Amino acid sequence: MNHFLDLHTTDATELRGMIDAARSMKDARNGRPRGAPDDTQPLAGRMVALVFEKPSTRTRVSFDLGVRQMGGETMVLSGSEMQLGHGETIADTARVLSRYVDLIMIRTFEEAVLQEMAEYASVPVINGLTNSSHPCQIMADVMTYEEHRGPIAGRRVVWAGDGNNVCASFLHAAGQFGFDLTFTGPPQLDPDPAPVGFARDRGRSITIERDAARAVEGADLVVTDTWVSMHDSQSARERRHNLLRPYQITTELMARATPDALFMHCLPAHRGEEVTSEVMDGPQSVIFDEAENRLHAQKAILRWCLQV
Ligand code: CP
Repeated sequence: MNHFLDLHTTDATELRGMIDAARSMKDARNGRPRGAPDDTQPLAGRMVALVFEKPSTRTRVSFDLGVRQMGGETMVLSGSEMQLGHGETIADTARVLSRYVDLIMIRTFEEAVLQEMAEYASVPVINGLTNSSHPCQIMADVMTYEEHRGPIAGRRVVWAGDGNNVCASFLHAAGQFGFDLTFTGPPQLDPDPAPVGFARDRGRSITIERDAARAVEGADLVVTDTWVSMHDSQSARERRHNLLRPYQITTELMARATPDALFMHCLPAHRGEEVTSEVMDGPQSVIFDEAENRLHAQKAILRWCLQV
């Protein structure tokens, strides 16, 4: 069963194959209207369940559109409106959905929910974000970097701010795609040691630099994310903002990176908080390419899961 649960649990050669397939499929669409079908319809007759226990714009729309372009159909399900949100177990939900659909994409809170869904489903399961990781996003980000600047292997990425779930997937990607990563942020929000260890075990240089200006010096890619994630308590908002203010991405900070460095943010962003509008809308920013490439990368992931 080809579940797509995390970058560190998926073979690196398979991940590379998905990125290459995504680029080919993107090229093959050749500027046609978004709603037009692909030339090939590998998901014809397939039904995909998109389960959301947290809000989403990009994940929801890009998965829905991607399945339709490939000839399949989707049903978008809100966790709170399903029996899942009223006490039915994950295991039972997984077994029931597997009788109706060909693949389950789930966005949820705890990693354990994703793992249980995958354990009991008899169809492939895709991780659409948990509190611990966001692998679909980082597949799109690797694709985006390489479209603009060539191979990401050997480059140095700086993650600024909160060492959150998206940071964890960037660390997994460092190990799988062969780039180095510097984390710059306050010690209270350091990344989880497990993904740091995963990347280091694969020979990558993973460093922590508390001074943002020093961290960004000579970087090839600068990445940040919102200071308060969906799973964080809103009561921690002020404390987090105070801790993270020195890590805001500004034009002055970007000027310390290499001249052709890119800026990424998975979105949604809080302009004026983790990043200024000047950087978001500036020449180094590829934020909307990242958003578009969610579509293409996930189409490749769907095909890999279903082997079609
Ligand atoms: N980046 C991302 O996953 O966006 P959504 O929360 O809008 O899906």
